[in-house]
Amino acid sequence: MKTLWFVFILAVWTACVFCYSELSNEELSYIDRSKNLDLLDPTNPNGYLAPILQVRTPGSQGSKNVQRHFQQFFNDLTGWHVKLEEFTMAGPQGQVNFTNVIATRDPPGVEKRLTLVAHYDSKLLPDGFVGAIDSAFPCALIMYVVKQLNDVLTTQWKHDRKIGLQVLFLDGEEALEEWTDDDSIYGARYLAQKMEEKGLLNTIDMFVLLDLLGAKSPSVMSMYEGTDWAHKNMKNVEKRLRKQKFAKHKRSEASWFARPGRFFIGGMLGDDHIPFLQRGVPVLHLIPYPFPETWHELSDNAQNLDEKAMHDWALLMTVWTAEYLELSGGFGIENVDL
Ligand SMILES: *[C@@H]1O[C@H](CO)[C@@H](O)[C@H](O)[C@H]1NC(C)=O
Repeated sequence: MKTLWFVFILAVWTACVFCYSELSNEELSYIDRSKNLDLLDPTNPNGYLAPILQVRTPGSQGSKNVQRHFQQFFNDLTGWHVKLEEFTMAGPQGQVNFTNVIATRDPPGVEKRLTLVAHYDSKLLPDGFVGAIDSAFPCALIMYVVKQLNDVLTTQWKHDRKIGLQVLFLDGEEALEEWTDDDSIYGARYLAQKMEEKGLLNTIDMFVLLDLLGAKSPSVMSMYEGTDWAHKNMKNVEKRLRKQKFAKHKRSEASWFARPGRFFIGGMLGDDHIPFLQRGVPVLHLIPYPFPETWHELSDNAQNLDEKAMHDWALLMTVWTAEYLELSGGFGIENVDL
Protein backbone atom coordinates (compact mmCIF):
# COMPACT_ATOMS: atom_id res chain seq x y z
CA MET A 1 0.00 0.00 0.00
CA LYS A 2 2.77 2.41 0.94
CA THR A 3 4.63 1.73 -2.31
CA LEU A 4 1.53 2.45 -4.32
CA TRP A 5 1.13 5.81 -2.67
CA PHE A 6 4.76 6.56 -3.37
CA VAL A 7 4.32 5.77 -7.07
CA PHE A 8 1.17 7.87 -7.17
CA ILE A 9 2.84 10.87 -5.53
CA LEU A 10 5.85 10.50 -7.81
CA ALA A 11 3.57 10.46 -10.85
CA VAL A 12 1.76 13.63 -9.74
CA TRP A 13 5.04 15.32 -8.90
CA THR A 14 6.56 14.39 -12.26
CA ALA A 15 3.52 15.72 -14.09
CA CYS A 16 3.95 19.12 -12.44
CA VAL A 17 7.65 19.32 -13.06
CA PHE A 18 6.93 18.91 -16.75
CA CYS A 19 4.34 21.64 -16.90
CA TYR A 20 6.75 24.41 -15.99
CA SER A 21 10.25 25.25 -17.22
CA GLU A 22 12.44 28.17 -16.21
CA LEU A 23 13.72 30.76 -18.66
CA SER A 24 17.45 31.48 -18.74
CA ASN A 25 18.90 34.80 -17.56
CA GLU A 26 19.46 35.68 -21.24
CA GLU A 27 15.78 35.14 -21.86
CA LEU A 28 14.86 37.30 -18.85
CA SER A 29 17.15 39.96 -20.27
CA TYR A 30 15.43 39.66 -23.66
CA ILE A 31 12.00 40.10 -22.05
CA ASP A 32 13.30 43.11 -20.13
CA ARG A 33 14.77 44.71 -23.25
CA SER A 34 11.68 44.14 -25.36
CA LYS A 35 9.31 45.55 -22.76
CA ASN A 36 6.98 48.35 -23.75
CA LEU A 37 5.62 49.96 -20.61
CA ASP A 38 3.97 52.75 -22.63
CA LEU A 39 1.21 50.23 -23.21
CA LEU A 40 0.43 50.33 -19.48
CA ASP A 41 0.72 54.10 -19.12
CA PRO A 42 -2.71 55.29 -17.92
CA THR A 43 -2.28 58.57 -19.85
CA ASN A 44 -1.47 56.95 -23.20
CA PRO A 45 -4.68 56.89 -25.27
CA ASN A 46 -3.13 54.32 -27.63
CA GLY A 47 -2.12 51.98 -24.81
CA TYR A 48 -4.08 49.14 -23.24
CA LEU A 49 -4.92 50.76 -19.91
CA ALA A 50 -6.25 54.25 -20.69
CA PRO A 51 -9.26 53.05 -22.75
CA ILE A 52 -10.38 50.83 -19.85
CA LEU A 53 -10.28 53.68 -17.32
CA GLN A 54 -13.87 54.82 -17.73
CA VAL A 55 -17.19 54.01 -16.07
CA ARG A 56 -18.08 50.57 -17.44
CA THR A 57 -20.99 49.26 -15.40
CA PRO A 58 -22.88 46.31 -16.95
CA GLY A 59 -24.91 47.32 -20.00
CA SER A 60 -23.48 50.87 -20.16
CA GLN A 61 -21.94 52.61 -23.16
CA GLY A 62 -18.60 52.54 -21.34
CA SER A 63 -18.88 48.78 -21.02
CA LYS A 64 -19.46 48.49 -24.78
CA ASN A 65 -16.47 50.76 -25.48
CA VAL A 66 -14.22 48.56 -23.38
CA GLN A 67 -15.56 45.37 -25.00
CA ARG A 68 -14.66 46.87 -28.39
CA HIS A 69 -11.20 47.75 -27.12
CA PHE A 70 -10.63 44.10 -26.11
CA GLN A 71 -12.13 42.75 -29.31
CA GLN A 72 -9.96 44.95 -31.48
CA PHE A 73 -6.86 43.95 -29.53
CA PHE A 74 -7.42 40.24 -30.12
CA ASN A 75 -8.54 40.71 -33.71
CA ASP A 76 -5.21 42.41 -34.44
CA LEU A 77 -3.21 39.46 -33.08
CA THR A 78 -2.26 36.31 -34.97
CA GLY A 79 -4.08 33.16 -33.95
CA TRP A 80 -6.71 34.48 -31.55
CA HIS A 81 -10.38 33.77 -31.56
CA VAL A 82 -12.45 36.25 -29.57
CA LYS A 83 -16.13 36.22 -28.78
CA LEU A 84 -18.48 38.44 -26.82
CA GLU A 85 -20.94 36.28 -24.94
CA GLU A 86 -24.09 38.19 -24.04
CA PHE A 87 -26.52 36.95 -21.40
CA THR A 88 -29.19 38.22 -19.06
CA MET A 89 -29.44 37.54 -15.33
CA ALA A 90 -31.72 38.75 -12.58
CA GLY A 91 -30.22 41.50 -10.42
CA PRO A 92 -31.85 43.03 -7.32
CA GLN A 93 -33.81 45.46 -9.57
CA GLY A 94 -34.73 43.06 -12.37
CA GLN A 95 -33.05 41.68 -15.48
CA VAL A 96 -29.61 42.99 -16.43
CA ASN A 97 -27.66 42.44 -19.65
CA PHE A 98 -24.08 41.30 -19.23
CA THR A 99 -21.29 40.44 -21.68
CA ASN A 100 -18.31 38.18 -21.03
CA VAL A 101 -15.32 38.50 -23.34
CA ILE A 102 -13.69 35.16 -24.11
CA ALA A 103 -10.49 34.99 -26.15
CA THR A 104 -8.57 31.83 -26.93
CA ARG A 105 -5.49 30.77 -28.80
CA ASP A 106 -5.02 27.03 -29.12
CA PRO A 107 -2.23 25.05 -30.68
CA PRO A 108 -3.58 22.76 -33.43
CA GLY A 109 -5.48 19.83 -31.98
CA VAL A 110 -5.09 20.83 -28.34
CA GLU A 111 -7.85 21.90 -25.98
CA LYS A 112 -6.04 22.56 -22.71
CA ARG A 113 -5.37 26.10 -21.62
CA LEU A 114 -3.76 28.34 -19.09
CA THR A 115 -6.66 30.68 -18.40
CA LEU A 116 -5.90 34.27 -17.32
CA VAL A 117 -8.89 36.03 -15.82
CA ALA A 118 -9.95 39.49 -14.64
CA HIS A 119 -13.25 41.29 -14.39
CA TYR A 120 -13.73 44.40 -16.49
CA ASP A 121 -16.97 45.86 -15.11
CA SER A 122 -16.75 48.82 -12.75
CA LYS A 123 -18.74 49.27 -9.58
CA LEU A 124 -21.96 51.33 -9.76
CA LEU A 125 -21.11 53.37 -6.66
CA PRO A 126 -19.47 55.69 -5.87
CA ASP A 127 -20.60 57.68 -8.90
CA GLY A 128 -17.74 58.08 -11.37
CA PHE A 129 -15.78 55.10 -10.03
CA VAL A 130 -13.30 53.82 -12.65
CA GLY A 131 -11.63 51.01 -10.68
CA ALA A 132 -7.97 51.37 -11.70
CA ILE A 133 -6.81 48.40 -9.61
CA ASP A 134 -10.35 46.96 -9.70
CA SER A 135 -9.70 45.69 -12.35
CA ALA A 136 -8.59 47.99 -15.18
CA PHE A 137 -4.90 47.36 -14.58
CA PRO A 138 -5.28 43.56 -14.23
CA CYS A 139 -7.09 43.53 -17.62
CA ALA A 140 -4.40 45.67 -19.26
CA LEU A 141 -1.69 43.51 -17.68
CA ILE A 142 -3.19 40.37 -19.21
CA MET A 143 -3.30 42.10 -22.62
CA TYR A 144 0.34 43.05 -22.17
CA VAL A 145 1.40 39.47 -21.40
CA VAL A 146 -0.51 38.17 -24.42
CA LYS A 147 1.09 40.77 -26.69
CA GLN A 148 4.61 40.10 -25.40
CA LEU A 149 4.34 36.34 -25.82
CA ASN A 150 2.17 35.92 -28.90
CA ASP A 151 4.98 35.59 -31.47
CA VAL A 152 6.84 33.20 -29.20
CA LEU A 153 3.76 30.96 -29.06
CA THR A 154 3.84 30.78 -32.85
CA THR A 155 7.51 29.79 -32.86
CA GLN A 156 7.39 27.41 -29.96
CA TRP A 157 4.26 25.52 -30.94
CA LYS A 158 6.10 24.28 -34.02
CA HIS A 159 7.95 21.73 -31.88
CA ASP A 160 7.39 21.77 -28.12
CA ARG A 161 4.81 20.74 -25.57
CA LYS A 162 1.64 22.53 -26.42
CA ILE A 163 -0.82 24.21 -24.16
CA GLY A 164 -3.18 26.96 -25.23
CA LEU A 165 -3.77 30.35 -23.69
CA GLN A 166 -7.17 31.73 -22.83
CA VAL A 167 -8.26 35.11 -21.55
CA LEU A 168 -11.54 35.72 -19.75
CA PHE A 169 -12.65 39.31 -19.20
CA LEU A 170 -15.71 38.81 -17.04
CA ASP A 171 -18.65 41.15 -16.56
CA GLY A 172 -20.70 41.74 -13.42
CA GLU A 173 -18.17 40.84 -10.75
CA GLU A 174 -19.23 43.76 -8.59
CA ALA A 175 -22.47 43.65 -6.64
CA LEU A 176 -25.21 45.83 -8.13
CA GLU A 177 -26.33 46.66 -4.58
CA GLU A 178 -24.94 44.69 -1.61
CA TRP A 179 -22.50 41.80 -2.07
CA THR A 180 -24.34 38.49 -1.64
CA ASP A 181 -24.04 35.12 -3.40
CA ASP A 182 -26.88 36.22 -5.70
CA ASP A 183 -25.70 39.78 -6.22
CA SER A 184 -22.07 39.44 -7.38
CA ILE A 185 -19.84 37.56 -9.87
CA TYR A 186 -22.63 37.34 -12.48
CA GLY A 187 -20.30 36.68 -15.39
CA ALA A 188 -18.29 34.00 -13.58
CA ARG A 189 -21.42 32.20 -12.34
CA TYR A 190 -22.91 32.18 -15.82
CA LEU A 191 -19.72 31.02 -17.54
CA ALA A 192 -18.83 28.29 -15.04
CA GLN A 193 -22.29 26.78 -15.43
CA LYS A 194 -22.17 27.01 -19.24
CA MET A 195 -18.73 25.39 -19.35
CA GLU A 196 -19.88 22.63 -17.04
CA GLU A 197 -22.93 21.94 -19.23
CA LYS A 198 -20.71 21.75 -22.31
CA GLY A 199 -18.14 19.56 -20.54
CA LEU A 200 -15.44 22.19 -21.01
CA LEU A 201 -14.26 22.74 -17.44
CA ASN A 202 -11.35 20.34 -17.89
CA THR A 203 -9.98 22.49 -20.73
CA ILE A 204 -8.80 24.86 -17.98
CA ASP A 205 -5.36 23.71 -16.87
CA MET A 206 -5.26 26.50 -14.30
CA PHE A 207 -7.63 29.40 -13.63
CA VAL A 208 -5.44 32.38 -12.73
CA LEU A 209 -7.48 35.25 -11.38
CA LEU A 210 -5.90 38.71 -11.17
CA ASP A 211 -7.66 41.26 -9.00
CA LEU A 212 -6.83 44.54 -7.21
CA LEU A 213 -3.33 44.76 -8.69
CA GLY A 214 -1.41 47.94 -9.53
CA ALA A 215 -1.00 49.55 -6.11
CA LYS A 216 2.30 49.54 -4.29
CA SER A 217 3.57 46.76 -2.00
CA PRO A 218 1.01 44.00 -2.60
CA SER A 219 1.13 40.90 -0.46
CA VAL A 220 -0.26 38.00 -2.47
CA MET A 221 -0.73 34.83 -0.48
CA SER A 222 -0.93 31.29 -1.69
CA MET A 223 -4.55 30.31 -1.06
CA TYR A 224 -4.97 26.82 -2.45
CA GLU A 225 -2.75 23.80 -1.86
CA GLY A 226 -3.30 22.44 -5.36
CA THR A 227 -1.72 25.51 -6.98
CA ASP A 228 0.83 26.27 -4.29
CA TRP A 229 3.62 25.13 -6.63
CA ALA A 230 2.62 27.87 -9.10
CA HIS A 231 2.69 30.51 -6.34
CA LYS A 232 6.13 29.28 -5.37
CA ASN A 233 7.26 29.67 -8.97
CA MET A 234 5.96 33.22 -8.99
CA LYS A 235 8.07 34.06 -5.97
CA ASN A 236 11.01 32.43 -7.70
CA VAL A 237 10.50 34.61 -10.81
CA GLU A 238 10.34 37.69 -8.57
CA LYS A 239 13.60 36.69 -6.91
CA ARG A 240 15.42 36.20 -10.21
CA LEU A 241 14.09 39.47 -11.69
CA ARG A 242 15.25 41.36 -8.61
CA LYS A 243 18.61 39.62 -8.53
CA GLN A 244 19.27 40.45 -12.21
CA LYS A 245 18.09 44.02 -11.51
CA PHE A 246 15.36 43.90 -14.15
CA ALA A 247 12.76 44.54 -11.47
CA LYS A 248 12.38 48.06 -10.05
CA HIS A 249 12.07 46.57 -6.59
CA LYS A 250 15.25 45.57 -4.85
CA ARG A 251 16.17 42.20 -3.42
CA SER A 252 16.15 43.73 0.05
CA GLU A 253 12.50 44.82 -0.24
CA ALA A 254 9.71 42.61 1.05
CA SER A 255 8.61 39.89 -1.35
CA TRP A 256 5.13 40.24 -2.85
CA PHE A 257 4.54 36.53 -2.39
CA ALA A 258 4.15 35.59 1.23
CA ARG A 259 4.94 31.99 1.96
CA PRO A 260 4.14 29.45 3.23
CA GLY A 261 0.54 29.35 2.02
CA ARG A 262 -2.38 30.26 4.27
CA PHE A 263 -4.90 28.00 2.69
CA PHE A 264 -7.80 28.86 5.01
CA ILE A 265 -7.90 32.43 3.67
CA GLY A 266 -8.81 31.30 0.16
CA GLY A 267 -12.19 30.13 1.32
CA MET A 268 -13.03 33.53 2.77
CA LEU A 269 -12.49 35.72 -0.27
CA GLY A 270 -15.47 35.90 -2.62
CA ASP A 271 -14.38 36.54 -6.20
CA ASP A 272 -14.81 35.30 -9.77
CA HIS A 273 -12.94 32.06 -9.09
CA ILE A 274 -15.54 30.64 -6.67
CA PRO A 275 -17.94 29.00 -9.19
CA PHE A 276 -14.94 27.40 -10.92
CA LEU A 277 -13.30 26.32 -7.67
CA GLN A 278 -16.55 24.73 -6.56
CA ARG A 279 -16.53 22.70 -9.78
CA GLY A 280 -13.02 21.39 -9.17
CA VAL A 281 -10.99 23.71 -11.42
CA PRO A 282 -7.44 24.48 -10.11
CA VAL A 283 -7.33 28.15 -9.07
CA LEU A 284 -4.47 30.56 -8.48
CA HIS A 285 -5.92 33.72 -6.94
CA LEU A 286 -3.59 36.69 -7.37
CA ILE A 287 -5.10 39.26 -5.06
CA PRO A 288 -3.29 41.27 -2.40
CA TYR A 289 -4.46 40.76 1.13
CA PRO A 290 -5.07 43.06 2.89
CA PHE A 291 -6.65 44.95 -0.03
CA PRO A 292 -5.07 48.25 -1.14
CA GLU A 293 -6.48 51.24 0.72
CA THR A 294 -8.15 52.71 -2.40
CA TRP A 295 -10.37 49.60 -2.65
CA HIS A 296 -13.95 50.59 -3.56
CA GLU A 297 -13.10 54.28 -3.09
CA LEU A 298 -13.35 57.01 -5.72
CA SER A 299 -9.59 57.32 -5.26
CA ASP A 300 -9.11 53.98 -7.05
CA ASN A 301 -8.08 55.90 -10.15
CA ALA A 302 -5.07 56.36 -12.45
CA GLN A 303 -3.31 58.73 -10.03
CA ASN A 304 -3.12 56.02 -7.40
CA LEU A 305 -1.59 53.33 -9.56
CA ASP A 306 2.05 52.70 -8.71
CA GLU A 307 4.39 52.90 -11.69
CA LYS A 308 7.08 50.71 -10.13
CA ALA A 309 4.55 48.05 -9.19
CA MET A 310 3.00 48.07 -12.67
CA HIS A 311 6.46 47.70 -14.20
CA ASP A 312 7.33 44.73 -12.03
CA TRP A 313 3.95 43.05 -12.57
CA ALA A 314 4.47 43.36 -16.33
CA LEU A 315 7.82 41.53 -16.21
CA LEU A 316 6.72 39.05 -13.59
CA MET A 317 3.54 37.93 -15.31
CA THR A 318 5.25 37.77 -18.71
CA VAL A 319 8.03 35.54 -17.37
CA TRP A 320 5.77 33.38 -15.22
CA THR A 321 3.35 32.80 -18.09
CA ALA A 322 6.21 32.01 -20.48
CA GLU A 323 7.55 29.47 -18.00
CA TYR A 324 4.13 27.94 -17.46
CA LEU A 325 3.70 27.56 -21.22
CA GLU A 326 7.27 26.26 -21.53
CA LEU A 327 8.32 28.88 -24.05
CA SER A 328 12.00 28.67 -23.16
CA GLY A 329 14.02 28.42 -26.36
CA GLY A 330 11.43 30.31 -28.39
CA PHE A 331 12.63 33.86 -27.81
CA GLY A 332 14.95 34.10 -30.82
CA ILE A 333 17.87 34.95 -28.54
CA GLU A 334 20.40 33.73 -31.12
CA ASN A 335 19.33 36.55 -33.44
CA VAL A 336 19.92 39.21 -30.85
CA ASP A 337 23.08 41.03 -29.82
CA LEU A 338 23.47 40.57 -26.09
C1 LIG B 1 -31.01 43.76 -23.04
O1 LIG B 1 -30.81 43.15 -24.29
C2 LIG B 1 -31.98 42.98 -25.04
C3 LIG B 1 -31.67 42.15 -26.26
O2 LIG B 1 -30.47 42.55 -26.87
C4 LIG B 1 -32.54 44.36 -25.37
O3 LIG B 1 -33.73 44.26 -26.14
C5 LIG B 1 -32.82 45.11 -24.07
O4 LIG B 1 -33.23 46.42 -24.35
C6 LIG B 1 -31.60 45.14 -23.18
N1 LIG B 1 -31.96 45.65 -21.90
C7 LIG B 1 -31.34 46.67 -21.32
C8 LIG B 1 -31.81 47.03 -19.96
O5 LIG B 1 -30.42 47.28 -21.85
